[in-house]
Amino acid sequence: MGDHTLVVLASGRGTNLQSLLDRTGDGTIPGKVVMVVSDVPGAQALKRAEERGVYTRVLDYSTFPRKSDYERALVETLEEVQPGLICLAGYMRIVGPTIVKRFSGRIMNIHPSLLPAFPGLEAQRQALEYGVKITGCTVHFVDTGMDTGPIIMQDSCPVEDGDTPDTLAERILKIEHRLYPEAVRLFFQNKLEVLGRRVHSREVGK
Ligand code: GRF
Repeated sequence: MGDHTLVVLASGRGTNLQSLLDRTGDGTIPGKVVMVVSDVPGAQALKRAEERGVYTRVLDYSTFPRKSDYERALVETLEEVQPGLICLAGYMRIVGPTIVKRFSGRIMNIHPSLLPAFPGLEAQRQALEYGVKITGCTVHFVDTGMDTGPIIMQDSCPVEDGDTPDTLAERILKIEHRLYPEAVRLFFQNKLEVLGRRVHSREVGK
């Protein structure tokens, strides 16, 4: 469909999707969200997309007999649109190797920790249980591992003594909403250079 088109995959409430809708809507990101796909019917993310008139597609994971059937349907859906970039935003599944290979270098994810620390589920709880004093979030390209792809951007915040997973998540989320649109903007402006595991940003002054 075009280089500056974005498909967002989301399973839940979709606040990161919202930040991408807002920053594409106001022109900060030179691109357009053309489709939102969810594996969960009724996900709040779908409502956020509909409110903006963005096309949505539900691939209800529970209706597919095998994971491979779901993956095939997802590839077909993405092939229809041929997006320039796919953003995972609270998408609670591991993207299979077929999709990663097909859209290599064009899939991003945001994760609520400073990777490689605390990959996988409940990153904020993991950070609290480990006792770190600083955590944050990471935008990275997606490879076939879990939260292991080349890191595009990271930013940090303190862990406070009274934090619970929820209060920490809320602090991190504020950073996420700034960082993810920033990474997508750089991608669409062709300012990201991937050198093996290292991603350089060719923004003037950085
Ligand atoms: C965010 O914390 C994101 O980093 C993680 O899942 C959460 C999704 O939140 N991958 P939302 O659905 O974008 O509000």
